Amino acid sequence: MAKKTRLDLMRMKKSGEKVAWVTAYDFPTASFAEQAGMDMILVGDSLGMIVLGYQGTIPVTMEECITCCNAVRRGAPNTFCIGDMPFMSYQISDEDAVYNAGRFLKEADMDAVKLEGGRRVITRIKAIADAGMLVMGHIGLTPQSSGVLGGFKAQGRDPKSARDLIMDARAIEEAGAFSLLLEAVPPELTEFITNDLTIPVYSIGAGIPCDGQLLICGDMLGLFEAFTPKFVKKYANVAEIEIKAFKEYVDDVKKGRFPTDEHCYHILPETADEYQKMLDELRR
Ligand code: KIV
Repeated sequence: MAKKTRLDLMRMKKSGEKVAWVTAYDFPTASFAEQAGMDMILVGDSLGMIVLGYQGTIPVTMEECITCCNAVRRGAPNTFCIGDMPFMSYQISDEDAVYNAGRFLKEADMDAVKLEGGRRVITRIKAIADAGMLVMGHIGLTPQSSGVLGGFKAQGRDPKSARDLIMDARAIEEAGAFSLLLEAVPPELTEFITNDLTIPVYSIGAGIPCDGQLLICGDMLGLFEAFTPKFVKKYANVAEIEIKAFKEYVDDVKKGRFPTDEHCYHILPETADEYQKMLDELRR
């Protein structure tokens, strides 16, 4: 399947074909996602929680993101991939934002970047777009500012905060973003924003009426055990499968059931006599 482009995503919005996308942080997951026909992959800064074991996304560095993006690109060479800008890679200045967005494209071969926030980061979005890069907005529950939001809480549930999010969404489109991600907001607001904007609007925990759905691979595959957000559907329980396999392996090793002869490399038959002689000679 050919890699999607911004124009394909616009066309899909117009035709009503939903975009299915997922996060990935490593080579095998990216490869499986591409083989499954995923439209896009986000190398989210959720990598901090899902694969590095941090409590949140704040500690994640540019270097960690770039390493994961490289692995994902090697696994999914034909998938539209988005690099997620980590905390402090765009907060200080427009210049920082453009420089770090550029690193995602130059060093990690990403097709686009995503950053969190609405009007408060609007000059960053505009600067990245003006530099000729595809940038996705992300509003609603924005994990990097969960402290300010009072935790990992749904947003836009009252008229005032919903109005603010609509204003943010409009500003993000005007600044030149190619798409917008809404996280953990009511479906009524998602539907309004999706119809209001000309760019594609995607949901993670923001309901049905929009242009596509994102899930975090660790949540949907059952790899992340700390908590499962309300909006997640678990399609597998990989943790259970891995723990079971590891337990069986430990048991097999302890009881001498692994390895068996079939797992061993054997002496070259034509050197068997010479080999045995050498061992006998060196035996102490
Ligand atoms: O890092 C990530 O995976 C994200 C999602 C929570 C949208 O930004």
